[in-house]
Amino acid sequence: MENDLVQISPRPSEQALLPSTEGSPPIRLTTPHGVARRKTFYIETFGCQMNVHDSEKVSGALVAKGYHPVTHHEDADFILYNTCSIREKAAQKVFSRLGAFKKNYSGNTKIIGVLGCVAQQEGERIFERAPQVSFVCGSASYSKISELVDRLEAGEHRVTGLSLETDECFETEVTRRDNPFRAYLTIIEGCDKACAYCVVPMTRGPERSRPSDAILAEARRLVDEGYTEIQLLGQTVNSYRDSSPARLSFPELLLRVGAIPGLRRLRFTTSHPSDFTPEIVRAVESLPTLCDHIHLPVQCGSNRVLARMKRTYTREEYLEKISCIRGAKRAMSVSTDVIVGFCGETEEDFSGTLSLLDEVEYDQIFSFKYSPRPGTTAGKLEDSVPEEEKGRRLTILQERQRQIQLRKNQALAGREFEVLVEAFQPRLGQSVGRTTSNRVINFPGEPDWVGRYMNVRVISAGPNSLVGVRTEPGLERRSTNAE
Ligand code: SAH
Ligand code: SF4
Ligand code: F3S
Repeated sequence: MENDLVQISPRPSEQALLPSTEGSPPIRLTTPHGVARRKTFYIETFGCQMNVHDSEKVSGALVAKGYHPVTHHEDADFILYNTCSIREKAAQKVFSRLGAFKKNYSGNTKIIGVLGCVAQQEGERIFERAPQVSFVCGSASYSKISELVDRLEAGEHRVTGLSLETDECFETEVTRRDNPFRAYLTIIEGCDKACAYCVVPMTRGPERSRPSDAILAEARRLVDEGYTEIQLLGQTVNSYRDSSPARLSFPELLLRVGAIPGLRRLRFTTSHPSDFTPEIVRAVESLPTLCDHIHLPVQCGSNRVLARMKRTYTREEYLEKISCIRGAKRAMSVSTDVIVGFCGETEEDFSGTLSLLDEVEYDQIFSFKYSPRPGTTAGKLEDSVPEEEKGRRLTILQERQRQIQLRKNQALAGREFEVLVEAFQPRLGQSVGRTTSNRVINFPGEPDWVGRYMNVRVISAGPNSLVGVRTEPGLERRSTNAE
């Protein structure tokens, strides 16, 4: 599940919350002409929800140091790119940003930093490729970010945080959450799986879980702040292993967080099929706050390819997990990730993926052309499926899934759902709501409905969203703390 680009912007209420920088010692990076002003930063984020949330925490750490967030990089003294290297195209984005920056800003005093998965993977090579960069830091070193920024402020020109040897998670005093509805909460960092195509174990380091008491305390704080939806995050969220004496299992943790009074929706992503147990399904079906949506990446429907991908499950084992979900007392939607054109994938292997889509009838899929990545075990194999063929398979796959989604969504006509209103589209006069099953419903609405829970009846459907009408006033409670 990948977000293309998320920008952290300052909230109006934040002005008042910022520590004053008046009286602080002169800071080289912000006072090139001796003019005292606030230290400002801009951060642009690529990649998955974990990256988005990391940026929220890094922003919090910078705010705690007296930095002020700005919406345009032109206004920033400190520019940070939080990068993704999952596929080649994603990794290239930051270099095109840095290239543009070089043209626009040569000779100025801004400090430029590269964070995240490209930072970890490329390390000091970034300085060679982009000499305008002076800070390179991977996510496993974010717990040291405050000290690293101190070194930049003291005038050090090349500062890095690149060690992967850590058993620490990134804990922050302040987190600058940008999504007013859904609060992300990391419960496990890194990844100990070794999927042949994937850079994440190399970019995010070894798996480490946060103690459950810290997670529960943060979740309670979020609810007190006004959030009604929490999303627990981890690359393999269900591999969670509590390091505190409580030794909560992942399903127990779900039940404990889900029972916090005032919380209305609890989501979790991403589950690895090998660690997906019936107890997780039991937890979700037993507690209404646990959203009826499971994201369970399959990657491929062929056992031969799954083995080569080192996914540690077979098609049959995966389908058993799906039938456990389908057998639950409460209906749950299921989404997945698929890679087409992995090394050695034959037409027959690909047909296996198509038949899996027919069998599972996912509610949503995220599909990608295989992209060989440096440092991965598959990166050493021949990338045997030509680009054009990968494109052909992707189109076929997406068209097959489009039909499944259209059929499934149309069957929902007449059904009523509670939605959390997440946006308003003024041009169309439409509110955009999300069901607990992660379906999007557009319905005629008002700008000030954003943040409310409402009941909506589905009247028609497309492959990617539903159209509905509001059926009752609903609860007026807002889920936002960003007013
Ligand atoms: N931790 C999650 C997701 C990791 S990245 C999991 O285990 O499922 C998100 C998705 O990107 C993956 O599920 C996979 O479908 C895709 N992906 C990862 N590496 C890729 C690569 N080298 N080429 C194409 N897609 C890739
Ligand atoms: Fe990558 Fe596999 Fe870990 Fe997911 S489980 S992050 S795909 S190595
Ligand atoms: Fe996420 Fe991309 Fe890194 S998907 S874990 S930011 S490689």
